[in-house]
Amino acid sequence: MLIKAENIHKQYRMRGHVIPVLQGLDCVVSAGESLAITGKSGAGKSTLLHILGGLDRPDKQSGPVRIDGNDLYGGSAATRTRLRARKIGFVFQSYHLLPELDVLDNVMLPARAQAKKRVFMRQRAMDLLDAVGMQQRAGHTPLELSGGEQQRVAIARALMNDPRVILADEPTGNLDEETGGQVLTLLFDLVRKNDYALVMVTHNEQVAMTCNRHLHLERGVLGESGDVGQPGNGCMSKRNTPPG
Ligand SMILES: Nc1ncnc2c1ncn2[C@@H]1O[C@H](COP(=O)(O)OP(=O)(O)O)[C@@H](O)[C@H]1O
Ligand SMILES: [Mg+2]
Repeated sequence: MLIKAENIHKQYRMRGHVIPVLQGLDCVVSAGESLAITGKSGAGKSTLLHILGGLDRPDKQSGPVRIDGNDLYGGSAATRTRLRARKIGFVFQSYHLLPELDVLDNVMLPARAQAKKRVFMRQRAMDLLDAVGMQQRAGHTPLELSGGEQQRVAIARALMNDPRVILADEPTGNLDEETGGQVLTLLFDLVRKNDYALVMVTHNEQVAMTCNRHLHLERGVLGESGDVGQPGNGCMSKRNTPPG
């Protein structure tokens, strides 16, 4: 299993109010597998991805979040940062490319902390840009690209350190249907070829059904969506059926 998160709890406090977001959620994803997560706005989808990606610590009573066997929150902040850089690639709805850097430097960003030679990193970044069809645009800045092109660059950046886990939060949310379809095809190809585990949050049921599995986040846990779920083989919740 590349991702194994158990009994995840997360609540936020706002001006004396407690907002329970995740309530004992389990999530398991294996290599080569893509998992779609749908759910209403505010259901906690981004919160879950942030927890799986080492960006937001779950509450104390939670079980471990294991990425490729490593306990993400079990060690120091430095260990977590290193794990995140090595094992996890993030793709965001709004791309999050740095506008002051050109495309090539954006893709190379995650490798900055690594000891490898720049010439080697540069070659890897160019190979990735080639894989996403953006090699010709290496010297352009993000603002000179369309949304779909920016997202392809963002995918290349996410893959720079050859992570095993890709977390994508509404990756096609800002793209038209055709461009979004191309970006998804690219993402799925890469997942299959490299045996990544992909977790993708999406509003779009059609998009969700293109993943191997599709789960729905509701009342703080993940449940079968009723489409393509394989019972017993993934994110099962302890409270699959709502009380009452
Ligand atoms: N940093 C935060 N502080 C307070 N509340 C937050 C914070 N982040 C998210 N929330 C709240 O948690 C809930 C889930 O948010 P989120 O995970 O962004 O949902 P989704 O991605 O499914 O739309 C929402 O009610 C949101 O307002
Ligand atoms: Mg969100």
